[in-house]
Amino acid sequence: MNVLILGSGGREHALAWKIAQSPLCKQLYVAPGNAGTGAMAQNVALSPEDFDAVKSFCLESEINLVVVGPEAPLVAGIVDFFKADVDLQHIGIIGPDKAAAELEGSKKFAKEFMEKYQIPTAAYQSFSTGQEAEAEAFLETLQAPYVLKADGLAAGKGVLILQDLSEAKAEVRSMLGGKFGAASETLVIEEFLEGLEFSVFALTDGKSEIILPVAKDYKRVGEGDTGPNTGGMGAISPVSFVDDALWTKTIEQIIKPTIKGIGLEKFDYTGFVFFGLIEVKGEPKVIEYNVRMGDPETEVVMPRLKSDLLQHLSAAVQGRLNEEKAEIDSQYCTTVMAVSEGYPGSYEKGKAISGLENLENCIPFHAGTRLEGDKVLSNGGRVIALSAMGANKEAALAKSYAAAKTICFEGIQYRKDIGFDLK
Ligand code: AMP
Ligand code: GLY
Repeated sequence: MNVLILGSGGREHALAWKIAQSPLCKQLYVAPGNAGTGAMAQNVALSPEDFDAVKSFCLESEINLVVVGPEAPLVAGIVDFFKADVDLQHIGIIGPDKAAAELEGSKKFAKEFMEKYQIPTAAYQSFSTGQEAEAEAFLETLQAPYVLKADGLAAGKGVLILQDLSEAKAEVRSMLGGKFGAASETLVIEEFLEGLEFSVFALTDGKSEIILPVAKDYKRVGEGDTGPNTGGMGAISPVSFVDDALWTKTIEQIIKPTIKGIGLEKFDYTGFVFFGLIEVKGEPKVIEYNVRMGDPETEVVMPRLKSDLLQHLSAAVQGRLNEEKAEIDSQYCTTVMAVSEGYPGSYEKGKAISGLENLENCIPFHAGTRLEGDKVLSNGGRVIALSAMGANKEAALAKSYAAAKTICFEGIQYRKDIGFDLK
């Protein structure tokens, strides 16, 4: 099969690394990719949001399967574009159509879906511009902290958690007044949930699913989970507090009803479902859905998947995922993200990365890198995810951290406490 992966981060490198191992994979392309994907697949200089360019490339290169990494092209309707075009209908595509991508693209839509299918989540109400007074009245019925969410995609900045009622009321007015543009003309106000977060991923063909290893990402920039949120500073898999009892509840109360709901809604959904979950007093609840794999979770999930991902993906596009079974490695996997100085605020790019050739016992997944001549340069806030396997968490972490010390670029930063004990 000729496979095209859309995207350019650590997630896409990890997907490429796994797909390239499949005997079913003939040619592998990543668009636009990074220095890491360029070393093991062919990078294609096109934007995943330029659907016409994606189409031309797919036809020229006789692509059989497209794997969409990030959410933006999905929310913009790339799957609908493929299915509506007779020239492209023979090509499998991994991702939901635009309507189903609203599970990530609209918080209100996701909450209504969860309500309809009785999937445990925080109690909520939604409000649109013009309903400022009603929103404030609802806030008064809640206790601090107050959770405000812009309905639409807001570059990861659309969720505010505030301690003070008057500040929350002012934010409600500002959001409904267009603080995040159209994304916050509707907002969801919800109950604050206290607990530990974890991530679960399933691949679905809209009827059945295979469940991938559980993971946890470390979202804050600073040690001890302090400072601003980032895209993710590291991840581990498995997760100690997700014991058998919690895992069983997660499958029965959340994953199965979600996939059933996707079927009953007749969503056109062949792709990954990312369940952003929280444990509240032993019970799993959904914080959010995403319609793609997580980053950096993919960098710890893919190394633990022993079975053939490309085989699972092709079964999914043929609607026979029920024949597939994921085989999971019992070893631990950890990843430590090396980031640019200043991230998640402003940072410089173009720093030469050294030491890559000396990495041992590590699977380096490039995030923001690019090749210039024979030099690998930083090209983003998150630069490289240093993944490693081990018989236990400590053994895997020791390898990830040895790798973090082996590479160097000006201003390199990473959290020293990835995997820290959560309970
Ligand atoms: P979201 O974009 O919905 O995942 O929210 C971003 C982050 O805000 C989550 O990863 C949580 O850490 C936090 N968060 C969101 N909703 C809640 C909630 N209801 N209670 C507590 N924390 C939340
Ligand atoms: N790691 C969280 C995300 O990919 O959204």
